[in-house]
Amino acid sequence: MQLSRRTMLLASAAWAVTALRPSYVHAQGSARPALPIPPELKADSGGMIRLDVQAGTMRFLGDRETPTFGINGPYLGPAVRLRRGEKVVARVNNNISEITTMHWHGLIIPGAADGGPHQTIPTGKWWQAELAIDQPAATLWFHPHDYPLTAGQVIRGVAGLMIIEDDESARLPLPARWGVDDIPLIIQDRRFTPNGEFFERMNYIAVVNGYVGDVALVNGAQYPEAHTARGWIRLRILNGSNARSYNLSTSDSRSLYVIGSDGGLLASPVELKQLLIHVGERFEVMVDARDGRAFDIITLPIAQDIMRLPPFDGPLPLVTIRPDGADGTGQLPPSLVALPAVPQQLPPLSQKLVMDMFRDKEGMGPLMKAGLPEMIKSGKTDPAVVARVVNLIVNDPVLSQADQLSSSGVNGKPFAIETINFSAPQNQDLHWQISEGSDLMLHPVHIHGCQFRIVSQDGKAPPPERAGWKDVAPISKGGVSEILVRFPHQAAKADPYMAHCHILEHEDSGMMAQFTV
Ligand code: C2O
Ligand code: CU
Ligand code: CU
Repeated sequence: MQLSRRTMLLASAAWAVTALRPSYVHAQGSARPALPIPPELKADSGGMIRLDVQAGTMRFLGDRETPTFGINGPYLGPAVRLRRGEKVVARVNNNISEITTMHWHGLIIPGAADGGPHQTIPTGKWWQAELAIDQPAATLWFHPHDYPLTAGQVIRGVAGLMIIEDDESARLPLPARWGVDDIPLIIQDRRFTPNGEFFERMNYIAVVNGYVGDVALVNGAQYPEAHTARGWIRLRILNGSNARSYNLSTSDSRSLYVIGSDGGLLASPVELKQLLIHVGERFEVMVDARDGRAFDIITLPIAQDIMRLPPFDGPLPLVTIRPDGADGTGQLPPSLVALPAVPQQLPPLSQKLVMDMFRDKEGMGPLMKAGLPEMIKSGKTDPAVVARVVNLIVNDPVLSQADQLSSSGVNGKPFAIETINFSAPQNQDLHWQISEGSDLMLHPVHIHGCQFRIVSQDGKAPPPERAGWKDVAPISKGGVSEILVRFPHQAAKADPYMAHCHILEHEDSGMMAQFTV
Protein backbone atom coordinates (compact mmCIF):
# COMPACT_ATOMS: atom_id res chain seq x y z
CA MET A 1 0.00 0.00 0.00
CA GLN A 2 2.93 2.38 0.22
CA LEU A 3 4.73 4.20 -2.51
CA SER A 4 7.90 2.16 -2.33
CA ARG A 5 11.11 3.00 -4.10
CA ARG A 6 10.26 0.21 -6.52
CA THR A 7 6.92 1.78 -7.32
CA MET A 8 8.55 5.08 -8.03
CA LEU A 9 11.21 3.45 -10.21
CA LEU A 10 8.50 1.58 -12.04
CA ALA A 11 6.62 4.77 -12.64
CA SER A 12 9.63 6.67 -13.85
CA ALA A 13 10.85 3.80 -16.06
CA ALA A 14 7.47 3.55 -17.72
CA TRP A 15 7.58 7.26 -18.00
CA ALA A 16 10.87 7.19 -19.91
CA VAL A 17 9.43 4.69 -22.39
CA THR A 18 6.50 6.99 -22.94
CA ALA A 19 8.68 9.95 -23.67
CA LEU A 20 10.63 7.97 -26.26
CA ARG A 21 7.64 6.74 -28.19
CA PRO A 22 6.05 9.49 -30.26
CA SER A 23 3.40 7.08 -31.53
CA TYR A 24 2.14 7.08 -27.97
CA VAL A 25 0.66 10.49 -28.62
CA HIS A 26 -1.66 8.65 -30.94
CA ALA A 27 -2.18 6.91 -34.21
CA GLN A 28 -2.74 9.57 -36.84
CA GLY A 29 -5.96 9.60 -38.70
CA SER A 30 -7.96 7.79 -36.07
CA ALA A 31 -10.97 9.84 -35.11
CA ARG A 32 -10.56 11.22 -31.63
CA PRO A 33 -13.30 12.98 -29.74
CA ALA A 34 -12.83 16.70 -29.18
CA LEU A 35 -12.55 17.66 -25.53
CA PRO A 36 -16.06 18.77 -24.55
CA ILE A 37 -15.93 22.21 -22.91
CA PRO A 38 -18.74 22.73 -20.38
CA PRO A 39 -20.72 25.83 -21.35
CA GLU A 40 -20.31 28.83 -19.09
CA LEU A 41 -23.40 29.83 -17.16
CA LYS A 42 -23.78 33.25 -15.56
CA ALA A 43 -26.73 34.54 -13.57
CA ASP A 44 -29.52 35.89 -15.78
CA SER A 45 -30.68 39.52 -15.59
CA GLY A 46 -32.82 38.61 -12.58
CA GLY A 47 -29.78 37.23 -10.74
CA MET A 48 -30.93 33.64 -11.17
CA ILE A 49 -28.95 30.54 -12.07
CA ARG A 50 -31.11 27.69 -13.30
CA LEU A 51 -29.91 24.15 -13.04
CA ASP A 52 -32.02 21.28 -14.35
CA VAL A 53 -31.04 17.85 -13.16
CA GLN A 54 -32.19 15.60 -15.96
CA ALA A 55 -31.91 12.15 -17.48
CA GLY A 56 -30.39 11.58 -20.91
CA THR A 57 -28.22 9.27 -22.92
CA MET A 58 -24.66 9.51 -24.21
CA ARG A 59 -22.33 7.46 -26.39
CA PHE A 60 -19.12 7.03 -24.47
CA LEU A 61 -17.82 3.91 -26.20
CA GLY A 62 -18.56 3.12 -29.82
CA ASP A 63 -22.26 3.15 -30.54
CA ARG A 64 -23.64 1.91 -27.24
CA GLU A 65 -26.11 4.28 -25.64
CA THR A 66 -25.55 4.85 -21.95
CA PRO A 67 -28.42 6.13 -19.79
CA THR A 68 -27.09 9.20 -17.98
CA PHE A 69 -27.94 12.05 -15.66
CA GLY A 70 -26.73 15.58 -16.25
CA ILE A 71 -27.37 19.21 -15.41
CA ASN A 72 -28.81 21.30 -18.26
CA GLY A 73 -27.57 18.55 -20.58
CA PRO A 74 -27.18 14.78 -20.77
CA TYR A 75 -23.92 14.41 -18.84
CA LEU A 76 -22.14 16.70 -16.34
CA GLY A 77 -23.22 20.33 -16.14
CA PRO A 78 -22.35 23.89 -17.04
CA ALA A 79 -19.48 25.87 -15.53
CA VAL A 80 -21.26 28.36 -13.30
CA ARG A 81 -19.32 31.64 -13.26
CA LEU A 82 -19.56 33.97 -10.29
CA ARG A 83 -17.68 37.01 -9.04
CA ARG A 84 -16.77 37.84 -5.50
CA GLY A 85 -19.40 40.25 -4.19
CA GLU A 86 -22.12 38.84 -6.40
CA LYS A 87 -25.37 37.60 -4.88
CA VAL A 88 -27.38 35.12 -6.93
CA VAL A 89 -30.19 32.66 -6.51
CA ALA A 90 -29.44 29.16 -7.73
CA ARG A 91 -32.58 27.21 -8.52
CA VAL A 92 -32.28 23.47 -8.93
CA ASN A 93 -35.03 21.52 -10.67
CA ASN A 94 -35.15 17.82 -10.03
CA ASN A 95 -36.29 16.11 -13.22
CA ILE A 96 -34.85 12.69 -12.43
CA SER A 97 -36.68 9.77 -10.91
CA GLU A 98 -34.89 9.87 -7.54
CA ILE A 99 -34.52 12.32 -4.69
CA THR A 100 -31.50 14.53 -5.09
CA THR A 101 -29.80 17.56 -3.52
CA MET A 102 -27.27 20.04 -4.89
CA HIS A 103 -24.21 20.86 -2.84
CA TRP A 104 -21.82 23.71 -3.68
CA HIS A 105 -18.51 22.07 -2.86
CA GLY A 106 -16.03 24.62 -1.54
CA LEU A 107 -18.44 27.53 -1.38
CA ILE A 108 -18.42 29.37 1.95
CA ILE A 109 -22.14 29.88 2.59
CA PRO A 110 -24.58 29.24 5.46
CA GLY A 111 -25.76 25.70 6.13
CA ALA A 112 -29.24 26.51 4.82
CA ALA A 113 -27.80 27.19 1.33
CA ASP A 114 -25.26 24.35 1.36
CA GLY A 115 -27.34 21.67 -0.35
CA GLY A 116 -26.37 18.84 1.96
CA PRO A 117 -28.34 15.66 2.73
CA HIS A 118 -31.07 17.56 4.60
CA GLN A 119 -32.00 19.81 1.68
CA THR A 120 -33.61 17.15 -0.42
CA ILE A 121 -35.41 17.87 -3.67
CA PRO A 122 -38.11 15.32 -4.50
CA THR A 123 -38.69 14.30 -8.11
CA GLY A 124 -40.52 17.03 -10.01
CA LYS A 125 -39.79 19.70 -7.38
CA TRP A 126 -37.24 22.50 -7.14
CA TRP A 127 -35.09 23.96 -4.39
CA GLN A 128 -33.32 27.25 -4.39
CA ALA A 129 -30.49 28.78 -2.46
CA GLU A 130 -29.20 32.31 -2.17
CA LEU A 131 -25.49 32.32 -2.84
CA ALA A 132 -23.69 35.44 -1.62
CA ILE A 133 -20.16 35.06 -2.94
CA ASP A 134 -17.46 36.23 -0.58
CA GLN A 135 -14.27 34.27 -1.04
CA PRO A 136 -11.18 34.36 -3.24
CA ALA A 137 -11.10 33.33 -6.90
CA ALA A 138 -11.17 29.56 -7.16
CA THR A 139 -12.34 26.53 -9.10
CA LEU A 140 -15.14 24.91 -7.09
CA TRP A 141 -17.76 22.37 -8.11
CA PHE A 142 -21.24 21.16 -7.35
CA HIS A 143 -22.77 17.72 -7.07
CA PRO A 144 -25.65 15.89 -5.34
CA HIS A 145 -25.37 14.96 -1.68
CA ASP A 146 -28.39 12.83 -0.91
CA TYR A 147 -27.69 10.12 1.63
CA PRO A 148 -26.98 7.40 0.52
CA LEU A 149 -27.47 8.04 -3.20
CA THR A 150 -24.54 10.37 -3.90
CA ALA A 151 -22.19 7.81 -5.47
CA GLY A 152 -24.75 6.55 -7.98
CA GLN A 153 -25.92 9.99 -9.06
CA VAL A 154 -22.36 11.21 -9.57
CA ILE A 155 -21.51 8.05 -11.54
CA ARG A 156 -24.36 8.79 -13.90
CA GLY A 157 -23.14 12.33 -14.44
CA VAL A 158 -24.48 14.88 -11.97
CA ALA A 159 -21.60 17.29 -11.34
CA GLY A 160 -20.53 20.69 -12.61
CA LEU A 161 -17.86 23.33 -12.15
CA MET A 162 -18.28 26.62 -10.32
CA ILE A 163 -15.70 29.26 -11.10
CA ILE A 164 -15.21 32.28 -8.89
CA GLU A 165 -13.27 35.33 -10.02
CA ASP A 166 -12.19 38.32 -7.97
CA ASP A 167 -10.25 41.54 -8.48
CA GLU A 168 -6.94 39.87 -7.74
CA SER A 169 -7.42 37.05 -10.24
CA ALA A 170 -8.59 39.58 -12.84
CA ARG A 171 -5.43 41.64 -12.30
CA LEU A 172 -3.07 38.73 -12.85
CA PRO A 173 -2.01 38.02 -16.46
CA LEU A 174 -3.27 34.41 -16.27
CA PRO A 175 -4.86 32.79 -19.33
CA ALA A 176 -8.59 33.44 -19.06
CA ARG A 177 -10.18 32.58 -22.40
CA TRP A 178 -12.56 29.73 -21.71
CA GLY A 179 -11.85 26.70 -23.86
CA VAL A 180 -9.00 28.52 -25.63
CA ASP A 181 -6.26 28.85 -23.04
CA ASP A 182 -8.34 28.36 -19.87
CA ILE A 183 -9.29 24.71 -20.08
CA PRO A 184 -11.42 22.74 -17.60
CA LEU A 185 -10.53 19.07 -17.13
CA ILE A 186 -12.98 16.96 -15.12
CA ILE A 187 -11.34 13.58 -14.68
CA GLN A 188 -13.50 10.57 -13.86
CA ASP A 189 -13.15 6.81 -14.16
CA ARG A 190 -16.06 4.68 -15.16
CA ARG A 191 -16.87 1.04 -15.91
CA PHE A 192 -19.64 -0.05 -18.25
CA THR A 193 -21.85 -3.12 -18.29
CA PRO A 194 -21.88 -5.22 -21.49
CA ASN A 195 -25.06 -3.47 -22.65
CA GLY A 196 -23.53 -0.04 -22.21
CA GLU A 197 -24.96 1.06 -18.88
CA PHE A 198 -22.75 2.55 -16.20
CA PHE A 199 -21.59 -0.19 -13.87
CA GLU A 200 -22.58 0.52 -10.29
CA ARG A 201 -22.69 -1.94 -7.39
CA MET A 202 -22.51 -1.43 -3.64
CA ASN A 203 -20.79 -4.55 -2.41
CA TYR A 204 -18.03 -4.92 0.17
CA ILE A 205 -15.39 -4.50 -2.54
CA ALA A 206 -16.88 -1.08 -3.45
CA VAL A 207 -17.70 0.02 0.07
CA VAL A 208 -14.13 -0.64 1.18
CA ASN A 209 -12.04 0.18 -1.91
CA GLY A 210 -14.35 2.64 -3.64
CA TYR A 211 -15.51 2.61 -7.26
CA VAL A 212 -12.99 1.00 -9.62
CA GLY A 213 -13.45 2.05 -13.24
CA ASP A 214 -11.57 0.76 -16.25
CA VAL A 215 -12.10 3.75 -18.54
CA ALA A 216 -10.84 7.28 -17.94
CA LEU A 217 -13.11 10.08 -19.08
CA VAL A 218 -12.19 13.76 -19.32
CA ASN A 219 -15.24 16.05 -19.44
CA GLY A 220 -17.19 12.93 -20.37
CA ALA A 221 -15.00 11.86 -23.32
CA GLN A 222 -12.49 9.05 -23.54
CA TYR A 223 -8.98 10.28 -24.42
CA PRO A 224 -10.18 13.42 -26.17
CA GLU A 225 -8.04 16.09 -27.75
CA ALA A 226 -8.18 19.80 -27.13
CA HIS A 227 -7.09 22.39 -29.66
CA THR A 228 -5.82 25.32 -27.66
CA ALA A 229 -3.94 28.56 -28.07
CA ARG A 230 -0.20 28.30 -28.59
CA GLY A 231 1.16 29.72 -25.38
CA TRP A 232 0.68 29.32 -21.66
CA ILE A 233 -2.34 27.12 -20.98
CA ARG A 234 -4.25 27.11 -17.71
CA LEU A 235 -5.83 23.77 -16.80
CA ARG A 236 -8.55 23.77 -14.16
CA ILE A 237 -8.41 20.18 -13.02
CA LEU A 238 -11.15 18.56 -10.96
CA ASN A 239 -10.85 14.99 -9.80
CA GLY A 240 -14.55 14.23 -10.12
CA SER A 241 -14.10 10.48 -9.70
CA ASN A 242 -15.86 8.58 -6.95
CA ALA A 243 -12.75 7.05 -5.47
CA ARG A 244 -9.70 7.09 -7.74
CA SER A 245 -6.63 9.25 -7.16
CA TYR A 246 -4.50 10.24 -10.15
CA ASN A 247 -0.79 10.93 -10.41
CA LEU A 248 -0.79 13.44 -13.24
CA SER A 249 2.15 14.11 -15.50
CA THR A 250 2.86 15.00 -19.12
CA SER A 251 3.88 12.69 -21.94
CA ASP A 252 6.94 14.76 -22.85
CA SER A 253 8.08 15.59 -19.37
CA ARG A 254 7.11 19.25 -19.52
CA SER A 255 6.47 20.74 -16.12
CA LEU A 256 3.18 21.30 -14.40
CA TYR A 257 3.11 24.67 -12.64
CA VAL A 258 0.47 24.50 -9.93
CA ILE A 259 -1.04 27.96 -9.39
CA GLY A 260 -4.13 27.14 -7.35
CA SER A 261 -5.56 24.55 -4.98
CA ASP A 262 -9.16 23.82 -3.90
CA GLY A 263 -10.11 27.22 -2.55
CA GLY A 264 -7.87 29.73 -4.28
CA LEU A 265 -4.62 30.72 -5.90
CA LEU A 266 -1.30 29.86 -4.27
CA ALA A 267 1.26 32.46 -3.19
CA SER A 268 3.49 31.47 -6.10
CA PRO A 269 3.56 28.72 -8.75
CA VAL A 270 4.83 25.29 -7.72
CA GLU A 271 6.72 23.45 -10.47
CA LEU A 272 6.15 19.70 -10.47
CA LYS A 273 6.75 16.75 -12.76
CA GLN A 274 4.01 14.73 -11.07
CA LEU A 275 0.90 15.94 -9.31
CA LEU A 276 -1.24 13.73 -7.09
CA ILE A 277 -4.90 14.68 -7.11
CA HIS A 278 -7.43 12.95 -4.88
CA VAL A 279 -11.19 12.85 -5.27
CA GLY A 280 -12.91 16.17 -4.72
CA GLU A 281 -9.65 18.09 -5.08
CA ARG A 282 -9.03 20.77 -7.67
CA PHE A 283 -5.75 22.15 -8.90
CA GLU A 284 -5.20 24.95 -11.35
CA VAL A 285 -2.12 24.11 -13.36
CA MET A 286 -0.25 26.08 -16.00
CA VAL A 287 1.66 24.36 -18.79
CA ASP A 288 4.03 26.05 -21.19
CA ALA A 289 2.78 25.28 -24.70
CA ARG A 290 4.57 28.15 -26.44
CA ASP A 291 6.41 25.55 -28.56
CA GLY A 292 3.14 24.59 -30.23
CA ARG A 293 3.88 20.86 -29.81
CA ALA A 294 1.14 18.43 -28.90
CA PHE A 295 1.45 16.52 -25.65
CA ASP A 296 -0.71 14.39 -23.40
CA ILE A 297 -1.73 14.82 -19.82
CA ILE A 298 -1.17 11.33 -18.48
CA THR A 299 -1.72 9.54 -15.19
CA LEU A 300 0.88 7.26 -13.65
CA PRO A 301 0.13 4.28 -11.39
CA ILE A 302 -0.75 5.16 -7.81
CA ALA A 303 -0.05 3.39 -4.55
CA GLN A 304 -3.32 1.50 -4.19
CA ASP A 305 -3.33 -2.08 -5.46
CA ILE A 306 -6.86 -2.27 -6.85
CA MET A 307 -6.44 1.10 -8.60
CA ARG A 308 -3.54 -0.40 -10.57
CA LEU A 309 -5.68 -2.77 -12.57
CA PRO A 310 -5.46 -2.19 -16.35
CA PRO A 311 -5.48 0.31 -17.96
CA PHE A 312 -4.12 2.08 -14.88
CA ASP A 313 -1.18 -0.37 -14.57
CA GLY A 314 1.11 1.91 -16.58
CA PRO A 315 1.12 5.48 -17.85
CA LEU A 316 -2.34 6.19 -19.22
CA PRO A 317 -2.99 9.17 -21.49
CA LEU A 318 -6.05 11.15 -20.44
CA VAL A 319 -6.22 14.02 -22.91
CA THR A 320 -4.11 15.45 -25.73
CA ILE A 321 -3.38 19.16 -25.75
CA ARG A 322 -2.73 20.48 -29.27
CA PRO A 323 -1.55 24.07 -28.95
CA ASP A 324 -2.07 24.82 -32.63
CA GLY A 325 -4.30 27.87 -32.37
CA ALA A 326 -3.53 31.58 -32.32
CA ASP A 327 -0.83 32.87 -29.99
CA GLY A 328 -1.74 32.78 -26.34
CA THR A 329 -1.90 35.97 -24.32
CA GLY A 330 -1.58 34.63 -20.77
CA GLN A 331 1.57 34.43 -18.71
CA LEU A 332 2.87 32.65 -15.66
CA PRO A 333 3.49 35.35 -13.05
CA PRO A 334 6.31 34.64 -10.56
CA SER A 335 4.00 35.46 -7.67
CA LEU A 336 0.26 35.15 -7.42
CA VAL A 337 -1.66 36.22 -4.32
CA ALA A 338 -0.91 37.08 -0.70
CA LEU A 339 -1.90 34.10 1.44
CA PRO A 340 -2.40 34.81 5.14
CA ALA A 341 0.37 33.20 7.17
CA VAL A 342 -0.58 30.22 9.31
CA PRO A 343 0.22 31.20 12.92
CA GLN A 344 3.08 29.33 14.63
CA GLN A 345 0.96 28.95 17.74
CA LEU A 346 -2.23 27.04 16.95
CA PRO A 347 -5.35 27.34 19.07
CA PRO A 348 -5.94 24.31 21.31
CA LEU A 349 -7.18 21.20 19.48
CA SER A 350 -10.98 21.43 19.46
CA GLN A 351 -12.13 18.62 17.21
CA LYS A 352 -10.88 15.22 16.13
CA LEU A 353 -12.27 13.41 13.11
CA VAL A 354 -11.26 9.76 12.81
CA MET A 355 -12.21 7.97 9.59
CA ASP A 356 -13.29 4.41 10.38
CA MET A 357 -13.78 1.35 8.22
CA PHE A 358 -15.66 -1.47 9.88
CA ARG A 359 -15.54 -3.92 6.98
CA ASP A 360 -12.03 -3.67 5.58
CA LYS A 361 -11.47 -7.39 6.04
CA GLU A 362 -14.53 -8.23 3.95
CA GLY A 363 -13.43 -5.79 1.26
CA MET A 364 -9.70 -6.58 1.23
CA GLY A 365 -9.61 -10.29 2.08
CA PRO A 366 -11.04 -11.49 -1.25
CA LEU A 367 -8.54 -9.31 -3.14
CA MET A 368 -5.67 -10.90 -1.26
CA LYS A 369 -7.05 -14.35 -1.96
CA ALA A 370 -7.30 -13.43 -5.62
CA GLY A 371 -3.57 -12.66 -5.60
CA LEU A 372 -3.79 -8.90 -6.17
CA PRO A 373 -1.06 -7.74 -3.75
CA GLU A 374 1.45 -10.28 -5.13
CA MET A 375 0.67 -9.25 -8.67
CA ILE A 376 1.24 -5.60 -7.85
CA LYS A 377 4.46 -6.45 -6.03
CA SER A 378 5.70 -8.43 -9.03
CA GLY A 379 5.19 -5.39 -11.26
CA LYS A 380 3.66 -7.61 -13.96
CA THR A 381 0.00 -7.58 -14.89
CA ASP A 382 -1.35 -11.14 -14.84
CA PRO A 383 -4.59 -11.55 -16.82
CA ALA A 384 -5.77 -14.40 -14.56
CA VAL A 385 -5.42 -12.29 -11.42
CA VAL A 386 -7.04 -9.31 -13.15
CA ALA A 387 -9.97 -11.50 -14.20
CA ARG A 388 -10.45 -12.76 -10.63
CA VAL A 389 -10.37 -9.26 -9.18
CA VAL A 390 -12.71 -7.84 -11.83
CA ASN A 391 -15.07 -10.72 -11.12
CA LEU A 392 -15.13 -9.66 -7.45
CA ILE A 393 -15.74 -6.01 -8.36
CA VAL A 394 -18.57 -6.90 -10.69
CA ASN A 395 -20.16 -9.94 -9.03
CA ASP A 396 -19.57 -9.76 -5.29
CA PRO A 397 -23.08 -9.65 -3.80
CA VAL A 398 -24.83 -6.32 -3.34
CA LEU A 399 -25.13 -5.33 0.31
CA SER A 400 -28.42 -4.85 2.07
CA GLN A 401 -28.98 -1.18 2.87
CA ALA A 402 -28.43 -1.93 6.57
CA ASP A 403 -25.06 -3.58 5.86
CA GLN A 404 -24.02 -0.74 3.57
CA LEU A 405 -24.92 2.00 6.02
CA SER A 406 -23.04 0.40 8.90
CA SER A 407 -19.81 -0.29 7.02
CA SER A 408 -17.98 2.97 7.65
CA GLY A 409 -18.01 5.77 10.19
CA VAL A 410 -16.45 8.84 11.70
CA ASN A 411 -15.29 8.74 15.33
CA GLY A 412 -16.56 5.19 15.66
CA LYS A 413 -20.10 5.78 14.42
CA PRO A 414 -21.77 5.51 11.03
CA PHE A 415 -23.59 8.61 9.79
CA ALA A 416 -27.14 8.95 11.11
CA ILE A 417 -29.28 11.66 9.54
CA GLU A 418 -31.10 12.41 12.81
CA THR A 419 -27.92 12.78 14.89
CA ILE A 420 -25.85 15.98 15.05
CA ASN A 421 -22.37 14.78 15.92
CA PHE A 422 -20.84 18.00 17.26
CA SER A 423 -20.92 21.75 16.98
CA ALA A 424 -18.32 24.39 16.20
CA PRO A 425 -18.16 28.07 17.14
CA GLN A 426 -18.71 30.65 14.41
CA ASN A 427 -15.98 32.96 13.13
CA GLN A 428 -13.13 31.65 15.18
CA ASP A 429 -9.86 30.05 14.13
CA LEU A 430 -10.10 26.39 15.04
CA HIS A 431 -7.52 23.65 15.22
CA TRP A 432 -8.88 20.30 14.09
CA GLN A 433 -7.19 16.97 13.64
CA ILE A 434 -8.12 14.49 10.94
CA SER A 435 -6.85 10.94 11.12
CA GLU A 436 -7.84 7.40 10.34
CA GLY A 437 -8.60 4.29 12.30
CA SER A 438 -6.67 1.08 11.88
CA ASP A 439 -6.90 0.89 8.08
CA LEU A 440 -4.31 2.10 5.58
CA MET A 441 -6.70 3.39 2.91
CA LEU A 442 -6.37 6.89 1.62
CA HIS A 443 -9.23 9.11 2.77
CA PRO A 444 -9.61 12.54 1.17
CA VAL A 445 -11.54 14.26 3.94
CA HIS A 446 -13.79 17.18 3.03
CA ILE A 447 -15.44 19.75 5.29
CA HIS A 448 -18.39 21.95 4.35
CA GLY A 449 -18.80 25.65 5.06
CA CYS A 450 -15.14 26.59 4.96
CA GLN A 451 -11.79 26.76 3.29
CA PHE A 452 -9.01 25.63 5.60
CA ARG A 453 -5.25 25.39 5.68
CA ILE A 454 -3.36 22.17 6.20
CA VAL A 455 -0.92 22.96 8.99
CA SER A 456 0.79 19.62 9.04
CA GLN A 457 0.51 16.26 7.38
CA ASP A 458 1.99 13.38 9.37
CA GLY A 459 3.95 15.86 11.46
CA LYS A 460 5.51 17.59 8.47
CA ALA A 461 4.61 20.71 6.55
CA PRO A 462 2.21 19.92 3.68
CA PRO A 463 3.71 19.86 0.17
CA PRO A 464 3.67 23.42 -1.26
CA GLU A 465 0.82 22.64 -3.67
CA ARG A 466 -1.37 21.77 -0.66
CA ALA A 467 -0.26 24.71 1.51
CA GLY A 468 -2.92 27.13 0.22
CA TRP A 469 -6.71 27.15 0.61
CA LYS A 470 -8.09 23.64 0.82
CA ASP A 471 -11.40 21.95 1.43
CA VAL A 472 -10.07 18.39 1.09
CA ALA A 473 -7.31 17.03 3.31
CA PRO A 474 -5.95 13.65 2.24
CA ILE A 475 -4.86 11.23 4.94
CA SER A 476 -3.37 7.79 4.43
CA LYS A 477 -1.22 5.09 5.99
CA GLY A 478 -2.49 5.81 9.47
CA GLY A 479 -1.75 9.46 8.86
CA VAL A 480 -2.77 12.55 10.77
CA SER A 481 -3.47 15.99 9.35
CA GLU A 482 -3.76 19.10 11.48
CA ILE A 483 -5.83 21.87 9.98
CA LEU A 484 -6.67 25.47 10.78
CA VAL A 485 -10.30 26.12 9.95
CA ARG A 486 -12.88 28.88 10.41
CA PHE A 487 -16.62 28.93 9.76
CA PRO A 488 -17.85 32.44 8.87
CA HIS A 489 -21.51 31.37 8.67
CA GLN A 490 -24.06 29.49 10.73
CA ALA A 491 -25.40 26.04 10.17
CA ALA A 492 -28.43 25.19 12.28
CA LYS A 493 -29.68 21.79 13.41
CA ALA A 494 -32.02 21.55 10.45
CA ASP A 495 -29.23 22.39 7.95
CA PRO A 496 -25.96 21.18 9.41
CA TYR A 497 -22.62 21.06 7.62
CA MET A 498 -21.00 17.75 6.71
CA ALA A 499 -17.47 16.48 7.32
CA HIS A 500 -16.76 13.31 5.40
CA CYS A 501 -14.50 11.18 3.32
CA HIS A 502 -14.99 12.18 -0.32
CA ILE A 503 -14.62 8.62 -1.56
CA LEU A 504 -18.30 8.50 -2.37
CA GLU A 505 -18.67 4.83 -1.48
CA HIS A 506 -17.21 5.61 1.95
CA GLU A 507 -19.53 8.59 2.33
CA ASP A 508 -22.56 6.54 1.25
CA SER A 509 -21.66 3.80 3.73
CA GLY A 510 -21.46 6.08 6.76
CA MET A 511 -18.06 7.82 6.75
CA MET A 512 -19.66 11.20 7.36
CA ALA A 513 -20.40 13.34 10.42
CA GLN A 514 -22.61 16.40 10.65
CA PHE A 515 -22.17 19.49 12.77
CA THR A 516 -23.77 22.81 13.54
CA VAL A 517 -22.06 26.19 13.69
CU1 C2O B 1 -18.07 17.47 -2.49
CU2 C2O B 1 -19.84 16.93 1.07
O1 C2O B 1 -19.01 17.13 -0.75
CU1 CU C 1 -18.62 20.11 0.09
CU1 CU D 1 -12.49 7.15 2.83
